Amino acid sequence: MTEEKTEGRTTTFRLFRFDPDKGLATSITEYTLSVPRGMTVLDALIRIKEEQDNTLSFRCSCRMGVCGSCGMFVNGLPMLTCQTQVVELESDTIEIRPLPNYDTLRDLAADLTPLFEKHKSILPWIIRKDAGELDDPKGEYLQSNDNLDWIYQFTYCLKCGLCLSACPTAASDAEFTGPQALAQAYRYMMDARDEGFDRRMEIIDAAHGCWRCHFATSCSQVCPKGVDPALAIQLLKREIVLRRLRLAKAGPAAEILTGPVKDAKRKEGVPEAPPKSVP
Ligand code: SF4
Ligand code: SF4
Ligand code: FES
Repeated sequence: MTEEKTEGRTTTFRLFRFDPDKGLATSITEYTLSVPRGMTVLDALIRIKEEQDNTLSFRCSCRMGVCGSCGMFVNGLPMLTCQTQVVELESDTIEIRPLPNYDTLRDLAADLTPLFEKHKSILPWIIRKDAGELDDPKGEYLQSNDNLDWIYQFTYCLKCGLCLSACPTAASDAEFTGPQALAQAYRYMMDARDEGFDRRMEIIDAAHGCWRCHFATSCSQVCPKGVDPALAIQLLKREIVLRRLRLAKAGPAAEILTGPVKDAKRKEGVPEAPPKSVP
């Protein structure tokens, strides 16, 4: 697409509207905007709110792909609106809805409470068998570079919820733990400093846990940070099977980081995680 064509291009925005104070009725309202080069979808929404309709509701904060609050369903795909330029969408008409698989709070703002609840359910912190250690630490909890290298790709999650909104299993099973939480379960369970595998098993090895995932990778395709939750979930299943078969040693996860796991590859089309920013 040439630069000339993108300068001040007139674009129609079809925006989903829902006001809980007015009952269950929903509608689509159209706005037209001249879109200059470089304008993001979020910029366009802010411009519409400031200049055309101050009743429009949506959520955003950092405007730089860090806080994870501006996820919306844009032309049929979940994406961070602050990281998506209008011109990238290659369309003169852009339809924006709140993220699917969540309730809608108002207009384009989805209620991400279930995402955060699922995240909390997998105990997203380092767990030690001796809980008293936290109050009376005996020294550093060491982690090898190899261990950090392995889990690093799964640590980028900014809890934007796009993966859950793309997941077909979550669409049919609201109790499914979901890609975000399961990927984070794997991230913590494979951390050499963690000893919480058994506690987390109660959540992830349950009726609505990791076995409901059928590895379609929709979650990974839309993740803006290259976390690849689908891969993490399949590796999580592997660890559970190994432990069930007692092929893996009990104890710190680092002890079972061997062979095939390190050869695990991303499916074609799944974005890579950013490179490590620490030595
Ligand atoms: S895994 Fe990716 S898509 Fe899912 S919440 Fe984390 S950053 Fe967002
Ligand atoms: S790979 Fe699993 S978690 Fe990801 S979208 Fe598919 S079913 Fe959902
Ligand atoms: S506004 Fe923070 S990620 Fe988009």
